Amino acid sequence: MRGLIPDSFIDELLARVDIVDVIERRVPLKKAGREWTACCPFHDERTPSFYVSPAKQFFHCFGCGAHGSAIKFLMDYERLEFPDAVEELAQSVGLTVPREGGRDERPREDKTDLYTLLDASARWYQDQLPGSADAQAYCRKRGLDADTIARFRLGWAPAGYDGVIKALGNTPRRMELLSEAGMVSSGERGGKYDRFRERLMFPILDRRGRVIAFGGRVLSSEQSPKYLNSPETPLFHKGRELFALWQVKQANPKLERIVVVEGYMDVIALHQAGLPIAVATLGTATTPEHTELLFRAAPDVVFCFDGDRAGRAAAWKALDAALPRLRDGRQAYFLFLPEGEDPDTLVRKEGKAGFEQRLKNATPLSDYFFDELARDVDTASLDGRARLAERARPLIARLPDGAFRDLMAQELEKRSGASARLQANPAAQRAVQRPTTAQRSLVRSAIALLLAQPGVADQVEKPYRFCNLDKPGVGLLAELLDLARSRPGINAAMLVEHFADRAEYPALQKLMATAVVGEPEAQRVEFLEALARMDEQAVALRRAALHAKMQQGPLDAAEKAELRELLAARVRPVAAPG
Ligand code: UTP
Ligand code: MN
Repeated sequence: MRGLIPDSFIDELLARVDIVDVIERRVPLKKAGREWTACCPFHDERTPSFYVSPAKQFFHCFGCGAHGSAIKFLMDYERLEFPDAVEELAQSVGLTVPREGGRDERPREDKTDLYTLLDASARWYQDQLPGSADAQAYCRKRGLDADTIARFRLGWAPAGYDGVIKALGNTPRRMELLSEAGMVSSGERGGKYDRFRERLMFPILDRRGRVIAFGGRVLSSEQSPKYLNSPETPLFHKGRELFALWQVKQANPKLERIVVVEGYMDVIALHQAGLPIAVATLGTATTPEHTELLFRAAPDVVFCFDGDRAGRAAAWKALDAALPRLRDGRQAYFLFLPEGEDPDTLVRKEGKAGFEQRLKNATPLSDYFFDELARDVDTASLDGRARLAERARPLIARLPDGAFRDLMAQELEKRSGASARLQANPAAQRAVQRPTTAQRSLVRSAIALLLAQPGVADQVEKPYRFCNLDKPGVGLLAELLDLARSRPGINAAMLVEHFADRAEYPALQKLMATAVVGEPEAQRVEFLEALARMDEQAVALRRAALHAKMQQGPLDAAEKAELRELLAARVRPVAAPG
């Protein structure tokens, strides 16, 4: 999604909006020196530890660690996805979001019309519900109360072929939109009729609470399909949506755990039972996009499946989709239900407390992972253990670099006896030769200080000697310097947004936060000192290398010249205040 909005526009937007303004409109701020403060909107506190820096166009909470640009604030505070946050910010300053290429070429008004029409359809179905005795009886039978029916906007699509068409398709343009929204089907001779008939209607909302599609359930078990969903439309892509995510976000300002179940009725029953933390995929397997959405909603995700063979297969698919998203701090669990039960039936039998207990006892991904892989191998034998290692290694390699991956590799070593070292994986090799904390923190603090005021890049000259240091982050530092030098006036938030699609993005955001409050002059000096020390190290290293080479034999002309230059090199003096 993000790729469709050009970087240059994000730059322009972040230059145009003032983060103090954006936040002040939602959270009252108090001036405190150069910054503004408030009690943090993202966690409970009595004394303010939430800071907004106008100079850096960045917010940071010293209490809970929340931080980021104006875009990030809107994403977190209003629980918007990136494109929607950009859209909202753009509107607030009168900019129109341009979109690059892609599937979405139609003018925006058309989509607005689609949303309006789908909302009107949902309303129409809702209005039909009280008029159908059968539908009412069915809702009672399933134990749905009035509040739940309203919260999920459940409705009734009556019998007949033109209910929606008559109510909403009264112009050619509206008929066209109804087709596009997936609300009508076409007969063999081109005649149009309602797609949903005699079905209990479940509107599917997007992350902003707008209706984008429907699922419809027949009342009797004789008809099929049991559930009919909207087709894929410009607004609806099954693999990217989760049923009830909006309701979950509405009910939980801060969510620790989210539960994924298989059916609409399962979600609804859990919400009604006082567990508004459940979502469902839309009759599809869990996709990597789903897992990303889930982990953005909550750090802990519980995947809930039937205990049968199909449920186990679905669970493994979910695990597979989750692996690359399991950064440190994110945890996945698996909950398998007894045969013949689903969350709907269980929560009705066992109540909220009973279901919560099951959630608590859910299997951590690591256990499920190794148990499943060891299922048909004999780990008592050497062969079996080799087999286990062979299966696990490529999967563990798909985990993001971090403590969790290291732990999984250790666990594999423990269980298989075989070394889990991921030879083919350069990131893992790097992890083996980790530099000392002191060395790493020099590069990190240089980056943090540069982000604190990108303008200091002007005071650094090329070539960057520190590039010769073989340390993580030096390349990134050089890249940031180049970017800041080529864009005078760029602020920290803009600089970091340039890396939004990169693996370094979260790290950069964190580093930006560490220097959000500070005295600019002191930070400038500290930055230049850090660079000077790195340059010094680079010079010393190279000198030592050349000296060592000299012991083996004569240096060539270029090396001699380099050594002369290195011996003459003075560590760059720290610039005087100015
Ligand atoms: P289930 O049949 O388990 O759903 O299918 P459920 O919610 O438990 O149904 P009832 O109402 O209690 O009997 C799980 C999900 O699979 C999709 C739907 O998204 C459903 O919620 N599905 C199922 C379909 O899309 N089509 C079908 O015909 C059946
Ligand atoms: Mn069910």
